[in-house]
This record gives sequence, structure tokens and C-alpha cells, in this order.
Amino acid sequence: MAAFDEPRPQMSPEDFRLLRDLVHAHCGILVREDMQFVMERRLAPRLEALGLEDFRAYYRFLRYAPERRAELEAAVEALTTHETYFYREPQQLRALSDELLPQLQRKNARTRRLRFWSAGCSTGEEAYTVAMLLKASGRFEGWDVEVYGTDISRRVLEAARRAEYGPSSMRAIPPEVQQRFFVPVSGGAGRLRVREDVRAWVSFGQLNLLEPGAAQLVPQVDVVLCRNVMIYFDPAARRQVLRVFHDKLVPGGYLLLGHSENLLNLSADFELVHLRTDLVYRRPEPIAPATGGRP
Ligand SMILES: C[S@@+](CC[C@H](N)C(=O)[O-])C[C@H]1O[C@@H](n2cnc3c(N)ncnc32)[C@H](O)[C@@H]1O
Repeated sequence: MAAFDEPRPQMSPEDFRLLRDLVHAHCGILVREDMQFVMERRLAPRLEALGLEDFRAYYRFLRYAPERRAELEAAVEALTTHETYFYREPQQLRALSDELLPQLQRKNARTRRLRFWSAGCSTGEEAYTVAMLLKASGRFEGWDVEVYGTDISRRVLEAARRAEYGPSSMRAIPPEVQQRFFVPVSGGAGRLRVREDVRAWVSFGQLNLLEPGAAQLVPQVDVVLCRNVMIYFDPAARRQVLRVFHDKLVPGGYLLLGHSENLLNLSADFELVHLRTDLVYRRPEPIAPATGGRP
């Protein structure tokens, strides 16, 4: 660790522009103009870890060093927020449980197959929440159910796979859900692990939503949740990701965004659906060919 009186490397406006463009091109995250100081503070430990003198050397490392991919991941890690918790945005989850799940049960009754994608899942709370809602509904036992959680950060995915959580992840979860779907971690000082039958429906994988072709491994899904992820993207990156979601959703499939997010001026490929307690987006069903009005 640097001593207090050692001068910290300073980021020039040009270094800031170069680093910010590089991060943006890699993962769509837009570091705001007024965040130069934040970027400087968060990336300074990386310079120290690599023994580099200044931010220009760090930029060159990210561009040309053989280890550049791993370091780009570390930089993105340092700059992103992974804030999440179980049962986040409960109103939307109520709409999912009360209105969308019965509909999906009817729609998929023949195949008895259901697919969800939590895109930008962070440490896994969102993906497990969906699996818990599906279990709690009692509608899908014996079905072929898969909830995919993906994120750009390998570190958060490791935590997601461990499935052990502390109080901060539990702050919005109804007590009866907590009691039903978690078991205490032995010697884990009050930490809880998601129950095995819930975990069996959930799997995790690393995926950069902005990398062309990266979503190839995700199959067609009935519902995409991408909540509190695209807020950090610029409009071009959002459009690119929305095309991926449109592609991956079955016709009539739903897209659930965070509450501060909408598709205004971004995509005409989705229709807005007014549910009783929330608004969601849907990939439209193809229009049936006209019969010409004759019987
Ligand atoms: C604030 S968390 C949201 C977690 C969860 N969806 C929720 O609403 O509680 C945003 C997550 O998006 C991920 N992320 C950011 N850019 C990404 C990208 N280009 N591809 C995939 N994930 C990304 C971050 O690593 C972070 O874990």
C-alpha cells in the first residue's frame, strides 16, 4: 500500500478521455465527464498492482500488453457497481407473479418448459428471486425450468454460484420467503445459503452484453430481466443490447427493466404492456395474415 506522503499519480484530462473511451468501447459503460476524480481514485490501485508509473502507462498496458484482457476486466470491475438484493422492486415482482406467471403457465402448457434470463445479474440475488417466485407460485413443479444469470464480472459470478448471503442482500425479502428458501451456513456467522431445489433451477455464466456474438450461448427465453444495468450505458450501447434481447425473446416474451429505465427513443421493437400493478415491455407476436374478410 502506498505511504500517505507518496504522491499519487494524477490523471490528465487526456488520460481520462483515452481510458473512458476504452472502457466504453469494451462494455458500454459510460463514465460521466465529471467523474475523472472517481476514475482516478478507483484505478490508482491497479497502477500500483502492476508497478506502473502513471495513467498513460496504464492505458498503454490496457491496449497492448499480452495480459490486456484480464486487466480490462479488473478495470471494469473497479469502475462498476454491483449493488443488488433479493426481491428488489417488489411491485414489478408482484406483477410478474400475479399476471405474467399464470399467462406463461397457459402459454407453455404443452411444452412445460420455461426460460428466464437475468442479464447483469451481479451476485445472483435477482436470478434466485425469480426461481423463488416460480417455486412459490406452485405452478411449475415438474416443468423444465431454467433461470440463466449472466454478468460481465467473474468475481460476482463466483459469489452467485456460492449462493451464500448476509443481511444486506436480505433487506427486502419477505420473512416467510427467507424461512422457506434458505438454510443457515454452518459456521457462517448468520449467513444463509439458497436451498438446493432453488439452486437447481439457476445457472450462471460470464457474458459481456456488448460483445458481438457473446449471447450465442443463451437460448430463446420467455422473460428477460435487465434491471439497473443499462442505466450506465449510452444510447448506442442500449440499442445494441436491446437488439440482442429482442433476438433472444420468444415472440410474446417479456422484457423487465429497472424502474428508472424505459425504451423511449431507443427501440420500436417492443410494445409497452400495462399490467395492473406495473408496466413491462413485450416482443410483439407476429401479426396473423389477413383472411381477406371472406369466410
Ligand atoms: C447494479 S447491478 C444490477 C444487478 C441486478 N440486475 C439488480 O437490479 O439488482 C449491474 C450489473 O451489471 C453488470 N454489467 C455492467 N456492464 C455489463 C455488460 N456490458 N455486460 C454484462 N453485465 C454488465 C455489472 O457487472 C453489475 O453486476
